[in-house]
Amino acid sequence: MGEAGGVLVVGADGTIGAAVAARLEAIGHDVIRTSRRRSPETLPLDLAADPASWRLPGGVAAAVLCAAVTSTEACRSRPDEARRVNVEAPVELGRRVAAAGGRIVFLSTNMVFDGTVPFTPASAPRCPQTAYGRMKAEAEERLLSYGDAVSVVRLTKVIGRTLPVIEGWRATLGRGETVHPFSDLPMAPVTLDLAAAVIAAAACERLGPILQVSAGADLAYADVAARLAARWGFAPELVRPVTVAESGTRLEHVPAHTTLDASAVRDRLGLESPDPWAAIDEVA
Ligand SMILES: NC(=O)c1ccc[n+]([C@@H]2O[C@H](COP(=O)([O-])OP(=O)(O)OC[C@H]3O[C@@H](n4cnc5c(N)ncnc54)[C@H](OP(=O)(O)O)[C@@H]3O)[C@@H](O)[C@H]2O)c1
Repeated sequence: MGEAGGVLVVGADGTIGAAVAARLEAIGHDVIRTSRRRSPETLPLDLAADPASWRLPGGVAAAVLCAAVTSTEACRSRPDEARRVNVEAPVELGRRVAAAGGRIVFLSTNMVFDGTVPFTPASAPRCPQTAYGRMKAEAEERLLSYGDAVSVVRLTKVIGRTLPVIEGWRATLGRGETVHPFSDLPMAPVTLDLAAAVIAAAACERLGPILQVSAGADLAYADVAARLAARWGFAPELVRPVTVAESGTRLEHVPAHTTLDASAVRDRLGLESPDPWAAIDEVA
């Protein structure tokens, strides 16, 4: 790695990685994709493997670190494995890219905060309440210690065409059964397009140490389920909201808020925090 070259997208077969790689190509960048799936035209890279075995291309201008163990349950139940992928690997990869003069964009989450206040500022102290959030918080802090080469992009819930929870609701409703979405669990959904636009912009030019992408308000999962059920033509009685406590589900943490202060994205890129329903209305 050394002089300016293409953009390395690590985890290019993931939801966000694929969208970011496509966007960067669409605006004229050479994109080098990594994947652990051995899909065509990707470099194989398993972040859980020994870093000595990694074969990284030289001369990248920037690396966008999209690969992660994103399941909060996997982070809780298999912390050693998840930590290798979510903390040790991005920190080492970032170290190598920064040492060679490249920029790093690391994807993080509102879950580095506890969600006690809405629109958490980027500068607020991290206070994660889940294993996943703690890993992201540690990786952020260690990567940012490399200095100006690094930008962290924190995202709230990103929705492409769907989400596993949404597919679950649709399948259950399709069988004529009731769904029990949480009435006290919030999300601040943004479209995959918005997330990819901000991440691609951060890969092209350093826009600051931390950028936050957020919808302009939170929605309860129960309200999202009700809206989608109506759109899909299911009877409203089939949506019966419950609180997390009533459901008996053991979540590590139920935040009161998930929105982030996205004023840097507005000021630097002219992108306002969208209405949260805009992302829901893009669900297939
Ligand atoms: N989606 C959101 O709402 C959201 C919100 C906040 C932050 N983020 C962050 O944004 C990033 C991308 O999220 P996403 O939603 O696109 O996740 P995703 O669809 O689950 O994709 C994650 C990618 O990471 C790869 N990966 C997992 N373990 C790996 C390993 N050991 N070595 C190499 N690659 C590995 C996966 O590979 P396979 O394709 O082989 O499974 C997959 O391509 C993550 O850092 C996530 O924490 C996402």
